[in-house]
Amino acid sequence: MQKGYVKIVEVGPRDGLQNEARYVDVETRLALIARLVAAGVQHIEAAAFVSPKWVPQMAGSAELMKRLPRRAGVHYSALTPNLYGLESAIEAGCEEVAVFASASEQFSRRNINCTIRESLERFRSVVEAAFAHGIKVRGYVSCALHCPYEGAVPTGKVAEVAMLLYELGCYEVSLGDTVGRGTPDSTRTMLEMVARRIPVQHLCCHFHDTYGMAIANIASSLELGVRVFDSSVAGLGGCPYAAGASGNVATEEVLYLLQGMGYDTGINLPQLVEAGRFISQALGRESSSRVGRAYAATGGGRLLAASTCDAA
Ligand code: HMG
Ligand code: MG
Repeated sequence: MQKGYVKIVEVGPRDGLQNEARYVDVETRLALIARLVAAGVQHIEAAAFVSPKWVPQMAGSAELMKRLPRRAGVHYSALTPNLYGLESAIEAGCEEVAVFASASEQFSRRNINCTIRESLERFRSVVEAAFAHGIKVRGYVSCALHCPYEGAVPTGKVAEVAMLLYELGCYEVSLGDTVGRGTPDSTRTMLEMVARRIPVQHLCCHFHDTYGMAIANIASSLELGVRVFDSSVAGLGGCPYAAGASGNVATEEVLYLLQGMGYDTGINLPQLVEAGRFISQALGRESSSRVGRAYAATGGGRLLAASTCDAA
């Protein structure tokens, strides 16, 4: 029985590749994105207009944004930490950007070199300028469950920062388990707190999979009504300012879970696996997605959704 639509925001080209040791050139990033689009992915965070001194892997974002395949129903976004980044994004033709705050003071300083309060002041100008150009803005709250420098983060602080982003005009607030230390219970507690202040349909969950809990955390979030998830094809990614953090939850795993539970995502799993194979090969390593590896192990012959496996 179909349970409804779940929106997947594919963040591999940004969150994934920003943390790969090997620089992936614009041509390869475009080839990855073309495969994601062919698989039916409709929301792709493609680039980041951040300082190349801070994150060299995102160099070439302007060229990439200009050359993206434009298709009806496909939406691209890019990170913009300040007005400088926004101006570059506008020049490159971005229709959606994302600002990124943190619920942890230390992480904010290490990631964007300012306090939480300063970041929110900057984002006010970014959002105003974006709206003046008809650009949608998404917001992130990093360290929504745990900070690599401060440890457990109070849920009240997460809710406060999320609310401030929502009040600034972010149409969706993505709650980031930056270091992947959340569990289904801590996820539930945090979400219940945030959802008291922001309608759940405006929330997204963004899990990194360092401790292997991401899929369980997604199942927990679904129970609370979250219907938007960020994920990275082939489990690419991490965060350059969160030592030890592994990649985002693999999109292949998220699709397998959602299909098995009867949710629709509009994405074709075998084609997505092919996109994961492509980028893993370009990086010269095996995919971090277990679903992707299982598919490869069967010779790519067939990949069944969880719900149909038992009958096979
Ligand atoms: P800063 O050094 O404080 O900036 O960095 P500044 O304003 O003092 O400027 C210093 C230099 O950077 C100047 O150049 C500026 O022009 C330049 P110089 O005069 O030295 O040649 N500059 C820029 N260049 C390109 N693009 C820009 C830009 N702004 C200034 N937008 C800044 C502040 C925010 C720029 C820096 O800290 C930065 O770029 N940080 C980005 C960090 C980042 O990208 N982290 C990863 C993304 S967040 C994440 O992954 C978490 C998430 O996935 C959710 C989760 O998992 O929790 C979203
Ligand atoms: Mg992230």
